[in-house]
Amino acid sequence: MDIEQCLRGLKPIVVAACLLSPFWGGAAMAHETLGLEAPKPAIALTPPMGWNSWNKFACNIDEAKIRGVADAMASSGMKDAGYQYVVIDDCWQKDRAADGTIQADPERFPSGIKALADYVHSKGLKFGLYSDIGAKTCGGRPGSRGYEFQDARTWASWGVDYVKVDWCYTGSSEANASYTIMAKALRASGRDIVFSICEWGDNKPEEWAAPLGHLWRTTGDIRDSWDKDEGYSHSFLWILDHNADLWANSGPNHWNDPDMLEVGNGGMTDVEYRSHFSLWAMLAAPLIAGNDLSNMDKATLDILTNKDVIAVDQDRLGQQARRVAQSGDTEVWVRPLAGGDRAVVLFNRGAEAKTISVDWDALQWAPGLKASVRDLWSKAVKKSIKGSYSAEVAPHGVVMVRISPAV
Ligand code: GLA
Repeated sequence: MDIEQCLRGLKPIVVAACLLSPFWGGAAMAHETLGLEAPKPAIALTPPMGWNSWNKFACNIDEAKIRGVADAMASSGMKDAGYQYVVIDDCWQKDRAADGTIQADPERFPSGIKALADYVHSKGLKFGLYSDIGAKTCGGRPGSRGYEFQDARTWASWGVDYVKVDWCYTGSSEANASYTIMAKALRASGRDIVFSICEWGDNKPEEWAAPLGHLWRTTGDIRDSWDKDEGYSHSFLWILDHNADLWANSGPNHWNDPDMLEVGNGGMTDVEYRSHFSLWAMLAAPLIAGNDLSNMDKATLDILTNKDVIAVDQDRLGQQARRVAQSGDTEVWVRPLAGGDRAVVLFNRGAEAKTISVDWDALQWAPGLKASVRDLWSKAVKKSIKGSYSAEVAPHGVVMVRISPAV
């Protein structure tokens, strides 16, 4: 057993045993154990939900915009639906003070980050920031390399609840080792902080990131497109396909992150956004909205706040769905839920409506089992269904149902 596997135990006693095991050649050295003997805080038992500035605003951010988003999250129904983290992505930083402390851009954030975090907290929400494990962020701002402990202490003193740490300007650094330093720094910071590892899936984070972080990106960046890829930014369909086989690696407090939502950003139709949102819920993805919450239409809000779909994403069993059938443009995805229900998505990637079926066999149920089927978008319920369920699915659409054995 290697040290990562050993550390996956995560209980303090298991971690202590790992670190003292012969793997280390005897008693662990102080710098090896610093901070990681503290267990990873259990603050993401279901996938984190919130908002991030990048997909809509990129570097065009300032404190007024972030306040506006926090206001909208609290008043629009998003907070009631479960969204809580307001996360500022790249470009809030400017430089470092003489003592190394990271400084916010004084023109865009004149009141400082602590005041903004306090404002977000005053709305009953949580606050997040972005950094990079390399020398610079992807936007060329100061990165955390060499400043991990100082940055973690600064963030904790500002009231940061969530930090996304990117993978730009890392040269020949080893990913696991680099993110381990930040995990130690965060655990030594004195504050429970969700650690979002943004390493783009380059070095198979699904194999080493679980003891360190609460979520890890599995791919390069998402773009607001159904199927058009461009360099390192990928369409919804590309990202979906690259997450399909990772189902075994995800679970409570350690989630695959297929990247933030594009719902409401304008590059896809509402039907396509419903597919995106439904399938992210099936993947047990962190639901991090990426649109302008202070200026969204009703269709966007209705998608983002569909409580039945969110309940699937947030199901406490935390099992990522599997794609159980694929034929031409049609697919069936199944996610087992706590208590024995199944969430099922019938997915039509094609340009014509199709009838798609799921057999009870794919749900690991006997064909004679009677169940009720609830459509999570139309809310229609069909009772006493046996053996299989079929529905017509619109082009680029889903039918998403929750199937419950009848008792
Ligand atoms: C990378 C990340 C994105 C975003 C940008 C910011 O591309 O993957 O999610 O944070 O950097 O520069």
